[in-house]
Amino acid sequence: MTQAISQRDIEALWMPFTANRDFKKQPKTIVAAKGHYYQAADGRQLYDAFSGLWSCGLGHSHPKIVEAVQHQLTELDYAMAFQMGNDKAFALAGKLTEMAPAGFNHAFFTNSGSESVDTALKIALGYHRVKGEAQRTRLIGRERGYHGVNFGGISVGGIAANRQLFSANLINGVDHLSHTYNLEHAAFSRGQPEWGGHLADDLERLAALHGGANIAAVIVEPVAGSAGILPPPVGYLERLRELCTEHGILLIFDEVITAFGRVGANFAADRFGVMPDIITTAKGLTNSMIPMGAVLVRDEIYQTFMQGPDQAIEMFHGYTYSGHPVAAAAGLAALEVFHEEGIAAQAKALESGFETVLHSLDNHPMVKDVRTIGLMGAIELIPRDNAPGARGLEAHKACFWEQDLVIRNAMDTLQFAPFLNAKPDDLEKTVAAVKSVIDGLL
Ligand SMILES: Cc1ncc(COP(=O)(O)O)c(C=O)c1O
Repeated sequence: MTQAISQRDIEALWMPFTANRDFKKQPKTIVAAKGHYYQAADGRQLYDAFSGLWSCGLGHSHPKIVEAVQHQLTELDYAMAFQMGNDKAFALAGKLTEMAPAGFNHAFFTNSGSESVDTALKIALGYHRVKGEAQRTRLIGRERGYHGVNFGGISVGGIAANRQLFSANLINGVDHLSHTYNLEHAAFSRGQPEWGGHLADDLERLAALHGGANIAAVIVEPVAGSAGILPPPVGYLERLRELCTEHGILLIFDEVITAFGRVGANFAADRFGVMPDIITTAKGLTNSMIPMGAVLVRDEIYQTFMQGPDQAIEMFHGYTYSGHPVAAAAGLAALEVFHEEGIAAQAKALESGFETVLHSLDNHPMVKDVRTIGLMGAIELIPRDNAPGARGLEAHKACFWEQDLVIRNAMDTLQFAPFLNAKPDDLEKTVAAVKSVIDGLL
């Protein structure tokens, strides 16, 4: 049943990553969702061109996941997660590691992407110390990287706005590779830009500066998502892998967005054929029905921790809700749907049509750049003079109120994350609606 809400209720909620004062003048409230559509509080059906927040790729309220969650709630609501386990968490760890790239046979459960990232950084630091290389303490992120909002994640993250308020308290010993975006050489890219593979050599610079033997890990999103969909240049990830191996540095792929079909494969590691040492996930793991994340590690990392007396806890880390049975039941059902419905193959088949429709706006006078890879797409608008972000937010609002369409804007970049089982017609209609919105922008 839909909940009646008052203006006081709206005021009471401090909204995440939202311009609260602007939003509350005309709240965009969702009360239901099914399949590819949201229902707004005013009764309108809105097409969701962002799959939740990159995260409900199978469609909203998928009946199989709903059923699994409902059933689980009547069977086991919760069980202590420390020194005990539940059947669904074990089963999900088994299924997840089965579909992961070879050698990733261990999963640590979290409740979000941010927690997955901080867990992965702690695993990397702990691994070196347990292995007897305690001097490896430095962490390397990348400019324009997004790794969630916890202290580890914002420290290795490279989005200035997420860091500046907290700049004095970011964790020590972190550096950033330069980002890979270059408008001059790689504008209107379809898939991986040809230019920019050499930018991975930036790691050599940092290894020379600090000593490669002092670096614990490099963390990158295989495709930078939140910063505006920046696909890796050809050869970039391969070179990063090569340099990490050469210097004994762990490579972490933050696949919170890219795992579970978003780039037309189980994992971006599979698509690009580059194997990291640690993979972080969340979002698509449960199709977002219940919050959950997982960190996958290579066998050697897990085995390195498994030393000392048997009764000793190997890693002092974990969450009350690590492997929550209801989340794990949602995860099991989501992975079953993912395999049964051939979701990665469906996403792969949709990629070229999606690329074509989004790039139909390449020559629009309001458009600065268009980038696509897998089912991730960005249309970067030319910013309005002295009002960066204004056009993007206006476009997002006009889509919502006038086109019954949900897209995301990050400043002036409009972002698209279609359902992994989207209908090609809907992708065309989405871009036609966006075109009519940006035609009308000042
Ligand atoms: C690559 C990446 N890492 C981490 C996160 C953080 O995930 P969460 O919002 O679930 O904490 C996100 C969220 O979008 C992400 O895109």
